[in-house]
Amino acid sequence: MTKLGVNVDHIATVRQARQAPEPDPVAAALLAELAGADGITVHIRGDLRHINERDIRLLREVVTTRLNIEMAVTREMIDFALEVHPDTVTLVPERDGEVTTEGGLDVIGNAKPIAAAIDRLKKAGLEVSVFIDPQLDQIERSSAVGAEMIEINTAAYAEAVPKGLKESDPAFQRELEKVRVAAHSADDLDLRVLAGHGLTYRNVRPISNIAEIIELNIGHNIIARATLMGMEQAVREMLKAMGA
Ligand code: PXP
Repeated sequence: MTKLGVNVDHIATVRQARQAPEPDPVAAALLAELAGADGITVHIRGDLRHINERDIRLLREVVTTRLNIEMAVTREMIDFALEVHPDTVTLVPERDGEVTTEGGLDVIGNAKPIAAAIDRLKKAGLEVSVFIDPQLDQIERSSAVGAEMIEINTAAYAEAVPKGLKESDPAFQRELEKVRVAAHSADDLDLRVLAGHGLTYRNVRPISNIAEIIELNIGHNIIARATLMGMEQAVREMLKAMGA
């Protein structure tokens, strides 16, 4: 069975919209675990716009599955990871002002700092994953710089999913095949293979069917659905609180 890591960043996004205490991503993480999630993922960005240090310190205390922190390859972030000691660190690219992670990490172009970061993290007993596009050269270089896991970026796949999910669509098949080949090649190099970005209730199955992919990291679509599924009950509870 493919494992599921639930990314709770967007609970923090809603909290930060009001700079209020609620909703708390830590509470969301616990509920996700109770529902069967195999792990919790958060992305601490340089601008701390959603997840902050307090969230991660608390998550480290309460998460009983596995805590995966996504972060950029900077000295400050690696120092923070070494202090908090999550189970896994996923190295991701980060550009100021981006709405979400744009593409995979260029491991080839940044091999030296990435290798140094991986070395520091591994020496402290942390598992390290790199988020990369489904490209053979990036996969090979990830292995060469010491990564033990890769997370294949499924954004291009997700964008290629046609309306009506016609699986015969050539663009869809092309992107799916890239993910398949990447997963297979990474597995051949003894890398553990994860995937994520842009996965939804509608497009997830062809990816979860790829045997070499052991875990998916999914955030936005789960949070989006949770918001709507909880709407009716939330309104009823407010009416009750009003005494209506
Ligand atoms: N994996 C990585 C490396 C990411 O940066 C993100 C988005 O934060 C995800 C997975 C989850 O993507 P989504 O929110 O589209 O499910």
